[in-house]
Amino acid sequence: MRYTRLWVGLTVVLVFSFAVLGYYGFEIYRVAPPYPDRVVTTEGKVIYTGDQIVRGQKVWQSMGGHELGSIWGHGSYVAPDWSAEWLHKEAEFLLEYWAGEEFDLDFDELRAERQAALKDRLIREMRTNTYDKPSGDLVISPARGIAINAVGRHYSKLFGDDSSLHELRDAYALRENALTTDENKEAVNAFFFWASWACTTNRPGADITYTNNWPAEPLVNNKPTGANIIWSVVSFVLLLAGIGGLSWYYAIQERKGEEELAQPPERDPLLGLNPTPSMKATYKYFFIVMALSVVQVLMGAVTAHYGVEGHGFYGIPLADFLPYSVTRTWHIQLGIFWIATAWLATGLFIAPAVSGQEPKYQRFGVNFLFFALVIIVGGSMYGQWLGIMQKLSLDTNFWFGHFGYEYVDLGRFWQAFLFLGLFIWLFLMHRGMWPAFKRPTANRHLLILFFISSAAIAVFYGAALMIGKETHLAMAEYWR
Ligand code: HEM
Repeated sequence: MRYTRLWVGLTVVLVFSFAVLGYYGFEIYRVAPPYPDRVVTTEGKVIYTGDQIVRGQKVWQSMGGHELGSIWGHGSYVAPDWSAEWLHKEAEFLLEYWAGEEFDLDFDELRAERQAALKDRLIREMRTNTYDKPSGDLVISPARGIAINAVGRHYSKLFGDDSSLHELRDAYALRENALTTDENKEAVNAFFFWASWACTTNRPGADITYTNNWPAEPLVNNKPTGANIIWSVVSFVLLLAGIGGLSWYYAIQERKGEEELAQPPERDPLLGLNPTPSMKATYKYFFIVMALSVVQVLMGAVTAHYGVEGHGFYGIPLADFLPYSVTRTWHIQLGIFWIATAWLATGLFIAPAVSGQEPKYQRFGVNFLFFALVIIVGGSMYGQWLGIMQKLSLDTNFWFGHFGYEYVDLGRFWQAFLFLGLFIWLFLMHRGMWPAFKRPTANRHLLILFFISSAAIAVFYGAALMIGKETHLAMAEYWR
């Protein structure tokens, strides 16, 4: 009876949480900022095409995506947030441009009321949503077209090797020639423009932008809304109330004497174990865990150093072959790998210990999984390096290179391979624990819960597989 209540509680929590997640996923899909077919001026000059924007997203992913600066606030810290920086540059350019065109002066030289009038014009120009759904055109003024081209030229130089921007690249820990073709530079500009447009333009029929007024940018009146602040406060108050509620519940149960305290065994049960061949086969996993965590910390140290010396390591030109975006990617991915490997190994070690039986060929399964993991770790890291060094086509990059989204940085092939590996692990654990499942003791409930949580590791990883080659950035962020 007591267990039934707990299972019902768990089911209610899961159904409710996934209903909320599902609802908001659907909402993101419904109201995400559209990719226009063309960005075109009122005079008919095409600035960017939709294909360039989509290609630009893939180019950005191949450079390391979130591991080099950020977009919409997600990513790494040394280089700037490209969407916020583009927005600021475009707004500043427009103010200067109008000041020059209309008064033949710099913006700073204008009288305060003229500055105020131009600032007001800027807000109307940039916040008004001029996307025309039937034609698929995002229509902008000719002045804005000039501003976009000017900002684009800056980024084309930045991602190349223009010597005037060498110091800036050093400050951003951005390697020389991060992009190698003009086509890709132009495409990444189109993508950055689009991402910044979504930060500035009001959603249809509303006075907040697609990104809910993020980033804060006074030039275009981007500031947090009242709802934003209230819901942030409500969320942490609810979190604290929930924790308080749990403690309160347990205090009451204990007073009523309904909560039995678990009695620890007199001796550590693991110490008395007689390891089976498959349990012994897991030892090498733990050595790999140690090695990966040491390399992870080394990569963290190198990544941190790039914050000071963007192109080198104490004078050694390390960034030529191991730039920040690579070390940061590896730092994070190795963290995930060693934590996951420790989980897998512990599960595989515990399974026969819990059931007291060694299934046939279990040792072979454990060894097989180990070699699969070694291939995934080595292969995916090499692929990420190839991607960032721009040695892969955009398609190959998607499959084997850098996926661009933090925490799922490995190419689709490696993701699918890892997903499969997690199911092999689940299968091996399940067959190891099966005899214990069949015994009708109270521990069964705990074992089933353990098994469900292990399955969740594999299944949750599957969410990343929902991100396709050209998935909308907002949906990609959701699945990530
Ligand atoms: C001495 C040890 C470590 C050093 C020096 C270090 C250094 C760093 C640096 C420099 C960054 C990148 C910040 C940026 O430029 O964006 C970073 C990010 C990160 N590190 Fe470490 N790290 C260390 C240990 C670890 C460990 C042990 C873990 C986890 C097991 C870890 C997990 C992460 C994660 C998840 C991020 C990304 C955070 C984000 O995107 O907000 N780090 N670390």
